Amino acid sequence: MLDIAIDLARQAGDLLRRGHQQGAGQVASKSSAVDLVTEFDLASERLISDGLRQRCPGHAIYGEESGGALPAAGPVWVIDPLDGTTNFAHGYPVFSVTLALLVDGQPELGVTYDPLRDDLFWAQRGQGAWRGERRLHVSSAATLGTSLLATGFPYDRAATADNNLAEFSHLMPRTRGVRRGGSAALDIAWVAAGWLDGYWERRIELWDVATGVLLVREAGGQVSSYSGRPWQPGDRNVVAANSVLHPELWQSLQTARNGLPALS
Ligand code: IPD
Ligand code: CA
Ligand code: CA
Repeated sequence: MLDIAIDLARQAGDLLRRGHQQGAGQVASKSSAVDLVTEFDLASERLISDGLRQRCPGHAIYGEESGGALPAAGPVWVIDPLDGTTNFAHGYPVFSVTLALLVDGQPELGVTYDPLRDDLFWAQRGQGAWRGERRLHVSSAATLGTSLLATGFPYDRAATADNNLAEFSHLMPRTRGVRRGGSAALDIAWVAAGWLDGYWERRIELWDVATGVLLVREAGGQVSSYSGRPWQPGDRNVVAANSVLHPELWQSLQTARNGLPALS
């Protein structure tokens, strides 16, 4: 299964790399004017879904561009065929493709591929997190003051005041920096790699972080919901960090959200 996931992620990544070189092609909007979809989102998902249907008959598929409901049981492939569509549509060179296999609701394996850097992040439950053939370990940053973080903002940010700006404003001056890379799958993979010390985001989708959660946990880090309990599929809000930093990052988000509605 892992070989199949890696092969399809690489094939889809090659497609996205060619798309990036030639311009993003057709661009349309989805849930709001800033929520985009390109012809390459659709082509990448078609490539991966066709490959999975052929090579894993009987497995369910839950992809961002195909819609449908997440089956609760059995093997399910969760796919984001192009994570970082806004970047891609503008030619900004940060995007990825990510897919994970969930069995009875639990992530068993996952792959996130960054085609422009040829970085292949993969993890299998109980077998570590890897970048190519190198084992990954989270960073050892012990305080927010010595940490580099990443976050993202929801597509309805213009329509709601609770749009992560309070959290961002609170954390930016208390850290070495907060990046907004534009690909959640890479943000969280980079926590597993130790290049970032922590990442948080709200209203995230399962396909954005299913692989990343496994990567961070297998690399020795912690991933929770905003309520503080270990993240599980279905949770829309995520806090990931090395295990020493996680409590301080989580607490700081609670402080930043003081006065805002509680989020699980
Ligand atoms: C988006 C990216 C972005 C995150 C958004 C996601 P998409 O995914 O991961 O970094 O902030 O919440 O929706 O739309 O490019 O697949
Ligand atoms: Ca995404
Ligand atoms: Ca996407």
